[in-house]
Amino acid sequence: MLRRLHPHQPASFAFTPANLEWAKGQITKYPAGRQASAIIPLLWRAQEQEGWLSRPAIEHVADMLGMAYIRALEVATFYFMFQLQPVGSVAHVQICGTTSCMICGAEDLVAVAKELIASTPHTLSADGKFSWEEVECMGACANAPMAQIGKDYYEDLTAAKLRELIGRFSKGEVPVPGPQNGRYAAEPIGGLTSLKEFESGRKQYNASAQLAVDIKDTVKRIDGTEVPLSTPWLGVAAPVKPARGKPVEPKPGAGAPADATGATVQEAKASSKGKPKTDGNAPNATPLATPEAKAPAGAGKKPKALKAARKGKADDLKLILGIGPKLELLCHSLGFFHFDQIAEWTPAEIAWVDENLEGFKGRVTRDRWVAQAKILAAGGTVAEAEAAAKA
Ligand code: FES
Repeated sequence: MLRRLHPHQPASFAFTPANLEWAKGQITKYPAGRQASAIIPLLWRAQEQEGWLSRPAIEHVADMLGMAYIRALEVATFYFMFQLQPVGSVAHVQICGTTSCMICGAEDLVAVAKELIASTPHTLSADGKFSWEEVECMGACANAPMAQIGKDYYEDLTAAKLRELIGRFSKGEVPVPGPQNGRYAAEPIGGLTSLKEFESGRKQYNASAQLAVDIKDTVKRIDGTEVPLSTPWLGVAAPVKPARGKPVEPKPGAGAPADATGATVQEAKASSKGKPKTDGNAPNATPLATPEAKAPAGAGKKPKALKAARKGKADDLKLILGIGPKLELLCHSLGFFHFDQIAEWTPAEIAWVDENLEGFKGRVTRDRWVAQAKILAAGGTVAEAEAAAKA
């Protein structure tokens, strides 16, 4: 299928402030010089915000990641999950047309979409509320035929049921996703024949449908305020926002990196390498000896900076694992040119630098710059410095 940009494009694109913050957080997941790795999550967030990917949105993301536009366009046009044309203001309906769904009635569902939405896929309905397309297997074959509407799966469909669902969406309702024929999940239509003891105490809906009901973002455009930014790899875990006032269980170790590499206590325990190193914030933590690990998040004092490199010649900071050309320039702009400067940083100074590496927050701690710089300043080899970073 030929995937081209839509002939009518908006003049510009910008992330909402919260989505922009989220996007910047995603970029910090990747090492210096590898920011392009964030292309898919950022394009996806742009689509979640707007419903589809316009050319300005693709170029905006490319600019954020320092990529040539053609590279971002290659990604956007390759993956079918990216919508390159406007979608319905209420919902885009994706009907599975693969084997199980096809033999269970997908063609009837497509006929309903053609009748109620538009005679051709990727075309807006007359009122602009809906669009549709046929897609490949979405992995819900035991509940065939099915369709994804917005973010969620509506399963065990019939033509009449899909007709009803579209009508309800059109009126502003958000019907409960999941099986539409009375099944709880994918058990026999007559009910469970084994493991019946699990029937009592289960929630009203199966896990996926329950989550959809709780989060309530099935057909919502995402503006970034839904879930606070969480960047535990920077030592900054967002408070877990409850859906509908219900507390959500935080993930094990959230917000408590066990050591300077960001491994949580749980992850470290799971490894065969023995006792976890911690920053002292995690329960049962054993403090680390390295200054990076003691750096208090959010606090800090600016280290002594130089106006220029001594004798006009800076050390090659890129020899520190984790520092690439952009990060090196950023260090220079902050007045850091030499290994011995970095080697002297105290925990408070590490915290300050970590906070002020715009776009690379937390890298000093994560990559153990101080430990590496000490070795390089003392004439050690790059291999020894790398070993210190990975210790
Ligand atoms: S064939 Fe439709 S979900 Fe797998």
